[in-house]
Amino acid sequence: MPLPLPPTPVPVSQPVDTSPIETTPPNGSDLDPIWRSVVTETRTRGNDIHLPVSLAYAERLCAAYPQADALLVRVAILLHDTGWARVDEEKILSEGFAGDWRKAAIRYEHEKQGCLIAQEVLPPLGYDDAFVMEVCAIIDGHDTRHEAYSLEDALMRDADRLWRFEPMGIALASGWFKMNPAVYTDRLRAEIIPELLTEAGILMGEAALDRSCALLKTAVLR
Ligand SMILES: [Fe+2]
Ligand SMILES: [Fe+2]
Repeated sequence: MPLPLPPTPVPVSQPVDTSPIETTPPNGSDLDPIWRSVVTETRTRGNDIHLPVSLAYAERLCAAYPQADALLVRVAILLHDTGWARVDEEKILSEGFAGDWRKAAIRYEHEKQGCLIAQEVLPPLGYDDAFVMEVCAIIDGHDTRHEAYSLEDALMRDADRLWRFEPMGIALASGWFKMNPAVYTDRLRAEIIPELLTEAGILMGEAALDRSCALLKTAVLR
């Protein structure tokens, strides 16, 4: 059951793991049946990198906020961008990552398609209707809605952003936005860190971004 969202950034009282994300891959195999159901949908827009890395971040965030419904956050992050596989591929980069990209029609469409995919794949795997509705409530609007509805929604949103601070996220997404790594990481620091909704997310994001900027020598290669 989702919890009401406290004032943001949500304070953290547990230890926060800010070590490189590859040191803790996604936990366990309980979600493997869902992964198997969406293999095709992972082959679009780098989802086969974005979704597992974001799931690992979601699990770290849930460890920092043990009061949250971790299963809800984990399933929502796993499925949130699968809808990109069912929209017009041509428009993903031309509309979804250019101009006022957050308001592009294709963004709303990938959210809607993601909900339909959740409704297709989760019930046959034994997830009940109430759970599927909660997952869809998070997926619907995850890019286009301004506010988060619940703590779980906020954790999924932070996990969705945190993968971008990793070298592999910078490598993929800087190309989508047609920016070099220095310009892109400047933008992450100026625009995306302030959007994070949880204190744990901010600590993780800053640590990863500092590491990535040092590794990629963005202070020099600009
Ligand atoms: Fe998305
Ligand atoms: Fe995403």
